Amino acid sequence: MARVVVEAKNLSKRYVMGDQTVHALRSINVQIFEGDFVAIMGPSGSGKSTFMNLIGCLDRPSEGECFLDGNPVAKMNDNELAAIRNKYIGFVFQNFNLLPRTSALKNVELPLMYAGAKNREETAKEALEKVGLGKRMDHTPAELSGGQQQRVAIARAIVNNPVMILGDEPTGNLDTRTSEEIMAVFQEVNRQGRTVIIVTHEEDVARHCKRIIRFRDGRIQRDEVVEHPVDAREVIKTLPDPDAEVEPTPEPVAEKLTFQL
Ligand SMILES: Nc1ncnc2c1ncn2[C@@H]1O[C@H](COP(=O)(O)OP(=O)(O)O)[C@@H](O)[C@H]1O
Ligand SMILES: [Mg+2]
Repeated sequence: MARVVVEAKNLSKRYVMGDQTVHALRSINVQIFEGDFVAIMGPSGSGKSTFMNLIGCLDRPSEGECFLDGNPVAKMNDNELAAIRNKYIGFVFQNFNLLPRTSALKNVELPLMYAGAKNREETAKEALEKVGLGKRMDHTPAELSGGQQQRVAIARAIVNNPVMILGDEPTGNLDTRTSEEIMAVFQEVNRQGRTVIIVTHEEDVARHCKRIIRFRDGRIQRDEVVEHPVDAREVIKTLPDPDAEVEPTPEPVAEKLTFQL
């Protein structure tokens, strides 16, 4: 049987604000397995980010338990949560969250520094090569396109060899082609055995995943298997080449006629 990477048992989260209580998650039960590629969908306010924060060990539940690779996280203190995050999880965000004045290479080296790893530069270079950015390592985020910045963020997320990658709307700020390229990178990372869980608002993006979990009002409304996930590499082949030379616009006919007169 496949290893259970995430297990939520009666997982609940309430936010108390003055005399109001928001039930962000209501007794969620779910298992996510090693090698899964999950899309989390649902309307705004349905609990997607709360769920990601809990399974990402960024927050603790109000009730219930969340197991990460069998480790119960509900009662861990902040240091224990940080340690488990570093070991198990790589994060990718909608707005990339890179250090602005720092090269791609240094950005990717950062988690290795926190982990006290050796051979940092070499390991970071390998991660950047995996996401197709081997030639842009010295560039700062401002010198990179949105898609390239997100690749740096993915390299940073995978550099520690985490069990799973969590992305909260990782293609939210990207155009169609670039989103497709980023999904291709996630699919490649997933093929190499890593569990990937992303939040997305777009059905098209979710169709690249192996499983779609839909949230509504803090509950899981539906949990479905995607029978034939879209292969991003195939889609990219059908898109027009962005570097192709644009044909010059022909002169308007009316102008030519005027000239002849
Ligand atoms: N830190 C917080 N304090 C108070 N309420 C919150 C907080 N975070 C989220 N919520 C509320 O919890 C519910 C679920 O939010 P969230 O998980 O962010 O939804 P989604 O990501 O699906 O848009 C919403 O009603 C939201 O307003
Ligand atoms: Mg959200």
